Amino acid sequence: MALLFVTRKIPMAGIEQMRAAGHELVISEKDGVLSPDELKAALAERPYEGIVSLLTDTIDASVLAAAPEAKIVANYAVGFNNIKLADMKERGVVVTNTPGVLTDTVAEFTVALILDITKRIAEGDRFTRAGKYEGWAPELLLGSDLAGKTLGILGAGRIGSGVAKRMANGFGMKVKYYDVARSEALEAELACDFCESVEEVLREADVVSIHVPLLPQTEHLLNAERLAMMKPSAYLVNTSRGPVIDEVALVEALKSKVIRGAGLDVFEFEPALAEGLATLENVTLTPHIASASDETRNKMSELVAENVNAFFRGEQPPYEVHG
Ligand code: DGY
Repeated sequence: MALLFVTRKIPMAGIEQMRAAGHELVISEKDGVLSPDELKAALAERPYEGIVSLLTDTIDASVLAAAPEAKIVANYAVGFNNIKLADMKERGVVVTNTPGVLTDTVAEFTVALILDITKRIAEGDRFTRAGKYEGWAPELLLGSDLAGKTLGILGAGRIGSGVAKRMANGFGMKVKYYDVARSEALEAELACDFCESVEEVLREADVVSIHVPLLPQTEHLLNAERLAMMKPSAYLVNTSRGPVIDEVALVEALKSKVIRGAGLDVFEFEPALAEGLATLENVTLTPHIASASDETRNKMSELVAENVNAFFRGEQPPYEVHG
């Protein structure tokens, strides 16, 4: 049975399953993200054979050097850009993630952000609480309708497709998408259009929703030049990873009305925000909570346990990540 270090408390469902399988789990007592030095110091204390990590932990060769017995890094997230896969491969360390269980939750949250920014809900809430509401007015906080408009999806994987279906079926939006892999199934189901490039989506969409993984090729995918390709009436939503957008360029685009608004659940240097972002009225900001439902966070914890338990039984973990 194995000794594992859990970098921060996660829901108990998976912890209990790992303990029930006979593993010993040491959970970081810090109520926060361990700094790289704190993480290495904690790992060096005992001969840990596995690490349960969070998307806020950078796991690279220097971390493995502090945990020379580690054979598996089980990430409590579907995204795994926090783990240097090349370093793990070199040391023969298996990496796992938690796909599938957060698809509906993140898709629902993305829909909520789209509705929020186009209907100015959070802005209206701030306005009302600030005592500025003086009675109904014909042109008070006018927003945009969605029916018949075009939703542009960048990255039509599980979550991107989930958002496309909800917005097409529930709100009558037309869908155009770009992905490195064309999805004929999605096209058949929604009668949506595949675009040959990111630029084509940006030029034609009224709402652009980002669902790509963070890779060297997608870092700053939305930069000043590409933001300028969007319609001035368009909105941008990001529930994927912050560095996909050049946040300084986005602040400028929102200030100077290059685009009409944005909804962001992730940030380039989170938890820090680019200067000026928090003072803008035409953006809704949420603290990386798109997958934060009771059900989903429990299921993510259970998938961590499935991966870890399978691995230490000598089986292939069900959600192994291959770089
Ligand atoms: C993930 O799992 O990658 C999500 O960003 C967590 O919310």
